[in-house]
Amino acid sequence: MALLLASTDFWEDMDVWSKGLRLAMPELDIRVYPDDGDVNEVEFAVVWKHPRGILKKYPNLKAILSLGAGVDHIISDPDLPKGLPIVRLVDKKLTHEMCLHALHWVLHFHSNQYLYRIQQSRAEWTQKSSIQTEDRTIGIMGLGNIGKSIGDSLVNLDFDVIGWGATKKPSMDGIHYYYGKDQLTDFLNKTNILINVLPLTQDTTNLVTKKEMLSLPKGAFIINIGRGNIINEVDLLSLLDHGHIAAAALDVFEKEPLPENNSLWNHPSVYITPHIAGQSNPNSASKTISENVYRIKNGELPYPIYSLANRY
Ligand code: GLV
Repeated sequence: MALLLASTDFWEDMDVWSKGLRLAMPELDIRVYPDDGDVNEVEFAVVWKHPRGILKKYPNLKAILSLGAGVDHIISDPDLPKGLPIVRLVDKKLTHEMCLHALHWVLHFHSNQYLYRIQQSRAEWTQKSSIQTEDRTIGIMGLGNIGKSIGDSLVNLDFDVIGWGATKKPSMDGIHYYYGKDQLTDFLNKTNILINVLPLTQDTTNLVTKKEMLSLPKGAFIINIGRGNIINEVDLLSLLDHGHIAAAALDVFEKEPLPENNSLWNHPSVYITPHIAGQSNPNSASKTISENVYRIKNGELPYPIYSLANRY
């Protein structure tokens, strides 16, 4: 029985990942693409942006497991074998990193750090009055594991937190929940700092355009740690120029790496990080992946399986 590791792009060395997976599943034959050996023996594929079309080479594949939280890099493969479970990575270390990243930017914007930086560059001493956390509404788009965990941390800091997602869910521990396109404008009207954690699907592509950004109160902030194509970059730049959006912290982009000539790089109110908000940790992620492999081997369902119904 073999597990195939395949990636065209990862911040970690594949050697580190195969070592982590071998430690977590010593009895499994871990192979790194293209050294896939006898294709009949491959039963699990663990992938991050795998070369398109390769997964249909393995007739006995039982599941495709993502090395990251998102699965857009899997479902965008036009040659994906049909009927196999696609398993997202819900890993506590990754969730924790995403929380820290989101908190960093919320606090940066909330406490006017972005203004004081500019003031320092011209030796200007102007004190802004502070806004209380309970008077600042943070709107989180996407209240799955990661979004909920960010929301809980912000509730603990006394921020007013609201959430939005595609499907109906009850409001949770201090987070009022809005759902569906009908409630999107209400959600945006109340949001001072928007955090996007949504995955990229057909429904979320270009979900936030000029119209939606104009529904945010003037001077709102945007933090995007979901996927780039969800928030329209051209519209964002134009609303930053007009001051409707005060500043944006972006970790994900329509095209990655962000091209050198993209105007986002030089905008004074844009903070760019190179898709590092939630890096999968080889030790803890290998353990999480192994738990799912063992579930499947025991005839149980892996968790969480990506499906259109529970996608946010
Ligand atoms: C990162 O973007 C991930 O999907 O884990």
